[in-house]
Amino acid sequence: MNRETLLIIGAAGNNGAATIAALTAQHAQHFNIRAGVRTEQRASELKSKFPLIETVILDLDQPETLSAAMQGVDKLFLILGNVENREQQAKHAIDAAVAAKSVKQVLFYSVFGAQYESILFAKQFRAGEKYLEQSGLAWTHLRTIFFQQNFAGWAEGIKDGALYLAIGEGAFAPLNIEDIGEIAANILIADGHHNKAYEITGPELLSGKQLAAAFSQQTGQSVDYVSPDNSSTLASLLAAGWPKWQAEGMLELFAVFASNQAAVVSADGQQLLGREMTSIHQYIEQHISFFK
Ligand SMILES: NC(=O)c1ccc[n+]([C@@H]2O[C@H](COP(=O)([O-])OP(=O)(O)OC[C@H]3O[C@@H](n4cnc5c(N)ncnc54)[C@H](OP(=O)(O)O)[C@@H]3O)[C@@H](O)[C@H]2O)c1
Repeated sequence: MNRETLLIIGAAGNNGAATIAALTAQHAQHFNIRAGVRTEQRASELKSKFPLIETVILDLDQPETLSAAMQGVDKLFLILGNVENREQQAKHAIDAAVAAKSVKQVLFYSVFGAQYESILFAKQFRAGEKYLEQSGLAWTHLRTIFFQQNFAGWAEGIKDGALYLAIGEGAFAPLNIEDIGEIAANILIADGHHNKAYEITGPELLSGKQLAAAFSQQTGQSVDYVSPDNSSTLASLLAAGWPKWQAEGMLELFAVFASNQAAVVSADGQQLLGREMTSIHQYIEQHISFFK
């Protein structure tokens, strides 16, 4: 039997690589995996980790590179990068998928709360979701919340004894990227996910204080919770090299968390994963060298 071809765009990123890892570990025979990357260097890095995949060079900003990549593709996993023009990039990929005429399903990587379109990140991803829904292709939206792995970016502060997170008294349920990779793999290998949107959170609601306590407990060092004001958060994100649009988007996201608008533990993740999701304690324990 001929294997279906799965094209993953954004394949070399965190979620793309986690999905390839899950597919190759658990469903090695299911797909011919075609990994869409921007450079030969990324292609060879990915190929050395996953020798059985095929790689293709493409750029979502150059639609002419997408039609060859899309040839004979049965399923597409579309992961957009950390870019301001996500809407335009999504349109380019979806147009190419329609034109290929072979694509039977698009799994679209999106964000938790996209449907409310209340903040910049939600608006960017919801625009892609809507374009896909109107394309005539079968769609599945994977709406994910803030990653546990993001805390690696807070490691210096944590080592110095403070978790600086501008979420006031709010709480949210951080999500592990390796879990997302397995969830995406499980969706892609099965039928029955057409025209559905999944809300994926981590397994436990955590306030800033509870997060700091988790870091204290796992590292054995005292970690205080500090919720800075917007201007100092913006200044530190900009100083860390974040583009202005993205730093301002992050402030909006923190305000959503602070007001408990995303204080939800969704059942979708665990159902799709088929096992317990990774807790923040497990994540810290697995990456303890970052934090102490
Ligand atoms: N951080 C969070 O908590 C969170 C939560 C939900 C959603 N998200 C968003 O979800 C998406 C996936 O996250 P991630 O961590 O997997 O992102 P990531 O590691 O940055 O991966 C994104 C991939 O997109 C590729 N890319 C960027 N511009 C491209 C272009 N013009 N054409 C083709 N590929 C391009 C990048 O390629 P290169 O490897 O060549 O750079 C990268 O491999 C991102 O948009 C992210 O912002 C983030």
